[in-house]
Amino acid sequence: MNISNKLMLIVILTTAEVSITVFSAFEIAKGAKFHQLNFLHLKYINQLTKTVKKIKNDTPVDINTIEFDILAIKQQPIDCLDEVNYLNRVIMKVIKTDQALTICENDIEIADKALLSVTQYKKGELSRDDFLLNLNVALDGFNQHSEMFEEPIRKTVSFILITLIPLVLIISLFNIILISYLSRTISSSIRNLTILLTSKPEDSTNLDDELDKNTTGELKALVIAARQRIKDDLLNIENSIELKAIVNSQTASLQQANDELAQFAYRASHDLKSPLSGAKSLAQFVIQDIEAGDIEEACQNAKIIYQQMEKLETLVVDILLLAKADIGNENEELIDFNQLITDMEERLAWLMKDNPCTLTTNINLSTPIKSEKARFAQIIENLISNGLKYYDTNKDAPYVHCDIFNEQETFNITVTDNGIGIPDKHQSEVFDMFKRFHVEASSGSGLGMALVKKHIEYLDGEISLQSSNSGTTFKITIPMDKLR
Ligand SMILES: Nc1ncnc2c1ncn2[C@@H]1O[C@H](COP(=O)(O)OP(=O)(O)O)[C@@H](O)[C@H]1O
Ligand SMILES: [Mg+2]
Repeated sequence: MNISNKLMLIVILTTAEVSITVFSAFEIAKGAKFHQLNFLHLKYINQLTKTVKKIKNDTPVDINTIEFDILAIKQQPIDCLDEVNYLNRVIMKVIKTDQALTICENDIEIADKALLSVTQYKKGELSRDDFLLNLNVALDGFNQHSEMFEEPIRKTVSFILITLIPLVLIISLFNIILISYLSRTISSSIRNLTILLTSKPEDSTNLDDELDKNTTGELKALVIAARQRIKDDLLNIENSIELKAIVNSQTASLQQANDELAQFAYRASHDLKSPLSGAKSLAQFVIQDIEAGDIEEACQNAKIIYQQMEKLETLVVDILLLAKADIGNENEELIDFNQLITDMEERLAWLMKDNPCTLTTNINLSTPIKSEKARFAQIIENLISNGLKYYDTNKDAPYVHCDIFNEQETFNITVTDNGIGIPDKHQSEVFDMFKRFHVEASSGSGLGMALVKKHIEYLDGEISLQSSNSGTTFKITIPMDKLR
């Protein structure tokens, strides 16, 4: 049973107990009132007896006093009948004390008759003797009724005392037992719940089972609501912790990006500045040469200016490519890798000319690759051009080999050379911007590998390198899902 139902039962029982007690008190008080009325009845009978005696002795008497006395005598049975309700009538009938009511009715009847005699006597319709006789008959009746009235009233009151008081006592006793039982069950379920909640169950499913077994009603609802509230609060705390972690990591990566940007701006402007100032001074020489008429020298310097400008152009192009690498800017298309290699060889003609390296490529794809062609062109071109640039002059047969193939889940590019390799201590910096470890071997912007890395990250792929002084291998894997 729910706690609220138990409490409601206690309230109902207590209300019944109080109502019956109050009812009994009223009924007992009613008995007392009947005795009091009967006492008054006797008093007025006595008064009337004295008056009748005076008439008998020919003492002058105001006839209105007799009328007043009879009316006073008649009032008590009327009051008695007014007090008696339907329930009283039923009880009196059952316990056979209802003659008290008949007595009252008869008493009123006698009083009415006596009043009629008074009226007739006043009008002179009744002789003095008859009038006295009638009054004496009435007095007898009144006296008799007063005597008879006490008995049934006493019986009725004692019946009420005998029945209602034990009933009240029984209900009170029952109430006390029930209240103590209910309060014990309520406190024991609270105690059990407290033990359950403080006993650290192994896991939360255990606690759920235990709650189902041991708790019902409002307590269960209360615990479930409290647990839900705590869960929600914890979730909010977790969310705010997660949010803080996200904000922290984003702040850190923003900070890093900011630092990289500052470094990039510094390095880029530095690398842009040297060919520009070189070209500027050379242009000055060209002017002087032309003024001095030394056209040959002027041509020589102009050629150097041209080379410087080419370098500058490469750098600017690389910076632009790097800036574009983070955003998907081209349409995806099926890539023809044979054509891509042919185009690349054309672009690298300047590097391949007079280069002792042998470039071989092997393309083995079982499924078409769909992506942004420019990204793959830049990746492959950078890896191959590095192999060609940083070959080992001491080796008899320098080579660069590029393998393009796919497996079930991955697309792979491997570029291997037997060049000079990358010193161990610099291998972790290969993908950083402007990092160059063989400045004397060949020219370049130092942005190629950073660009490759950005493309691979964009495609969710991975790049690794193995390098020693006998050569370098770059391995790239990209999930096929990104390329369908
Ligand atoms: N295959 C390779 N063999 C030897 N060194 C390499 C190779 N690839 C890259 N490197 C080293 O890494 C540096 C960075 O490469 P990259 O970013 O392409 O710049 P670069 O413009 O110099 O080619 C190169 O300058 C070179 O020192
Ligand atoms: Mg390069």
